[in-house]
Amino acid sequence: MSAPKILIIPGSARKDSLNKKLAAVAAERARDAGAEVTLIDLNDYPAPIYHGDDEAETGMPDTMRQLKAQIRAHDALMIATPEYNGHVPPLLVNAFDWVSRADGDDKSNAFAGKLGAILSASPGRLGGARVIPRMRAFLADLGVMSVPGFASLPGAMQAFDENGALTSEHTIGQIDKLVAHLMSWFSQR
Ligand SMILES: Cc1cc2nc3c(=O)[nH]c(=O)nc-3n(C[C@H](O)[C@H](O)[C@H](O)COP(=O)(O)O)c2cc1C
Repeated sequence: MSAPKILIIPGSARKDSLNKKLAAVAAERARDAGAEVTLIDLNDYPAPIYHGDDEAETGMPDTMRQLKAQIRAHDALMIATPEYNGHVPPLLVNAFDWVSRADGDDKSNAFAGKLGAILSASPGRLGGARVIPRMRAFLADLGVMSVPGFASLPGAMQAFDENGALTSEHTIGQIDKLVAHLMSWFSQR
């Protein structure tokens, strides 16, 4: 079959985001493994906080319609999420909440049947360990089944060199396992 299409979404829009850096490494590893990869920046998909009255008045924002189309056009999602007080940060929750909504007459679920893979980078010692099961549960509710395992990057402030290369062999190994899971799933279809 043709190369699986993987959409990589960092859950932080911050310029120097550690999760953007981790997502860039995942993009490189997935491309090397033969996937067709799109790495996006949520700065390109600004959206107001979901509000039912706004939705009733003006519908889905164009940016969220575009994000929905991106998700629909890919086979799998790799999410590099920060951990905020143990949870998925509002930027990701808000974007995915919007995308989960019907768009006028189009009531289809863009997430349905996609495969997921979860990564998290944190300056702390736990590497976002608490957000990973919560991200997995959130994705499951949306219709995305995540592959086993995760890639977690503790001490992320010190984990990239000046070229953005990841110095943690352990986390690189975790990323490669996620990529291998995704690739083997699609090779069996
Ligand atoms: C509101 C807030 C809550 C946070 N809570 C946690 C937390 O529970 N665990 C953690 O490891 N880091 C926590 N942090 C620190 C983030 O991991 C850190 O800001 C990280 O750099 C965010 O990801 P980014 O670099 O991709 O933007 C928190 C940061 C903010 C702003």
